[in-house]
Amino acid sequence: MITTDQIIDIKKPKLKAEIFNLFRKRFSPRVYSEEEIARKDLDSMIEAARWSPSAMNNQPWFFYIAKSGSVGFKILINSLGNRNYWAKKAPVLILACYIKEDKFGEYGQYDLGQAVFSLVIQARSLGYHSRQMADFNKKQVRNNLKIKNSFFPWVIIAVGKIGDYTKADSTLIEKDNLERKRKENIKIEI
Ligand SMILES: Cc1cc2nc3c(=O)[nH]c(=O)nc-3n(C[C@H](O)[C@H](O)[C@H](O)COP(=O)(O)O)c2cc1C
Repeated sequence: MITTDQIIDIKKPKLKAEIFNLFRKRFSPRVYSEEEIARKDLDSMIEAARWSPSAMNNQPWFFYIAKSGSVGFKILINSLGNRNYWAKKAPVLILACYIKEDKFGEYGQYDLGQAVFSLVIQARSLGYHSRQMADFNKKQVRNNLKIKNSFFPWVIIAVGKIGDYTKADSTLIEKDNLERKRKENIKIEI
């Protein structure tokens, strides 16, 4: 049997230099508690995204928040690839779209990524974890949520309190009970 604390422990990054506490504490679990997220906390996550930087200050992003039990939540869950079945336990899914309109140029996906990371770090600061998913049927989501043509569903973010690994299914435990890996060297000095 493995406990949630043991998972949190194994996920601690092996640092080569000191980093900001929230970066150290962030990782993407697959096991969530069904405990609801307070409205004010969701508002803070979206507010953090809103204040992220973007090319020409275009802010080419939009978020759909779907709480467990809602029609929108079911639409998002039904769009997910099989490997993302764990997400149905999360209390909230957030669909993040980038906006592509002529005036916005080519940096929409990049800008959305920054906004999502702001959201994720704000969530972590409030005691939540998250895991982003690109494996979902984007066309199906667009049709079922009637998303306008210039908005592009790009990632679904599962957000919630980390769950109880003593009650999680063995496949998820096997996947999450692994150290996090990173490339050794991502720089040269020039
Ligand atoms: C754009 C993006 C798409 C991702 N898609 C999926 C996905 O469909 N399913 C999944 O389980 N994890 C997905 N992930 C999670 C990554 O696998 C995870 O962030 C990575 O392994 C690093 O782990 P860490 O976030 O715990 O550091 C995605 C992450 C990002 C940023």
